[in-house]
Amino acid sequence: MPEDRKKYYITTPIYYVNDKPHIGSAYPTIAADVLARLHRQLGEDVFFQTGTDEHGAKIAQAAGAAGKKPKEFADEISAKFAFAWDQLGIAPDKFIRTTDPEHEQAVEKFLNKLKASGKLYEGEYEGLYCVGHEAFIKEAELVNGVCPDHKTKPQHLKEKNWFFKLFEYQKVLEEKINNDEFVIRPQTRKNEVLSFIRAGLEDIAISRPNVKWGIPLPWDKKQTVYVWIEALFNYCSGIGYGADEAQFQRFWPADIHLVGKDLTRFHCIIWPALLLAIEEKIPLKVYAHGFFTINGEKISKSLGNVIDPNDWVAKYGADAVRYFLLREVPFGQDGDVSEEKLKARYNGDLANGLGNLFSRVTDMIEKYLKGDIGEFIKSPKDLSEASEAFYNLDFSEGLVAVWKEIAWANQLIDKSKPWELVKTEPEKVKELLLNLAALLYDIAKKLAPILPETAQQIKQVLESGDIKKSPPLFQKIS
Ligand code: MSP
Repeated sequence: MPEDRKKYYITTPIYYVNDKPHIGSAYPTIAADVLARLHRQLGEDVFFQTGTDEHGAKIAQAAGAAGKKPKEFADEISAKFAFAWDQLGIAPDKFIRTTDPEHEQAVEKFLNKLKASGKLYEGEYEGLYCVGHEAFIKEAELVNGVCPDHKTKPQHLKEKNWFFKLFEYQKVLEEKINNDEFVIRPQTRKNEVLSFIRAGLEDIAISRPNVKWGIPLPWDKKQTVYVWIEALFNYCSGIGYGADEAQFQRFWPADIHLVGKDLTRFHCIIWPALLLAIEEKIPLKVYAHGFFTINGEKISKSLGNVIDPNDWVAKYGADAVRYFLLREVPFGQDGDVSEEKLKARYNGDLANGLGNLFSRVTDMIEKYLKGDIGEFIKSPKDLSEASEAFYNLDFSEGLVAVWKEIAWANQLIDKSKPWELVKTEPEKVKELLLNLAALLYDIAKKLAPILPETAQQIKQVLESGDIKKSPPLFQKIS
């Protein structure tokens, strides 16, 4: 592994295995896959990690409800995540499970280090706990006595815990976030985190005496580590913390943690504070994306509107689903998705736009140039407008830019009417088609991180230098 290459470590949240994946959990995983592919295209040494979060009361309860042992249940659901990601063309370098022995061992080392830091103490906590959130919840946050997100009554807990002195990190976190030493984006999320910190941080409980499904504290085996503390550590354990020192040193700190906007307090406050306590570097950046709604409603099991990404992939293909989710909603914002919207983008942007351009150009090359485009000239590697937008996580904007080029090329064909021109000026038609082929090749290169299969198909046909009739990229769906 040449050390002079720039490294790029990107992560997604690890998903709870209480339920199978849905398009919300697919969102950051697709985005991370796109960025991993883009940075690889740019020649960087990329490590892309995703995985599943398998311990804690929430999972134990879900397993119990299914009449299964927690590990057996976690095995099943975790495999569903891995399968769904594979179907979506997502190729992580590591799929971590928090029940992996390597993770459990790394967490033990981390906990010992945390204890040795002197930042832990024993105390008593009394308060409300929402199992759905796996977090304490304040009385004031309840609506009609229940958690507004999970519609469940929180547990009242009064128990002995180990506490972490989060309070001590208030000043240093505020400073690092404020001056972008630790970057939080979009800006609205940064402001939100800053005002939360400025309102005053409280110490947090990092262990649970009554949760059996978890990793025991090495020095107090009656307690298990609070599932969030353990889950955050996946970002270190997955690249070899305490086991493969060379790999850990190569990739840590993370260049970017992609998370949903619901997870910023954990990733932007608790996580860097824990790392500072054990004297490790803190991540360079956290980017929080928005939430999908379906027909204006929150996605939830109780509303029965959960969409399984596999269903969409089976009908429209992986590339179309990747394209749709990143095109439809600007990455940092909330937005509405539905199958009708997916279908409209599929038939409009993909079949009529890109697909049509590809078949027109290749059909005419076959017809007017006998399929011969000679030694294909590829444009030199550069960061064009679209790739730069993707690089900055403005996926939607980048795609709009590419589709402007597609529309322009389709209009150029309409206007220049090669089917008439060929009768009088065949040389001009040849020049036009070669230019269009070069443009298509360039478009395929730009789109490769988002539409890997389609880009590959386009490139293969053009690179062959001898173009035969090829199947359409996207078959219209009625
Ligand atoms: N296990 C924790 C994360 C631990 S990370 C160290 C967790 N898991 S989760 O499965 O409940 O959700 C993970 C992520 O899924 C959310 O942060 C968010 O990125 C994504 N989404 C879940 N529902 C979503 C939508 N409706 N829309 C977009 N993304 C959503 O929290």
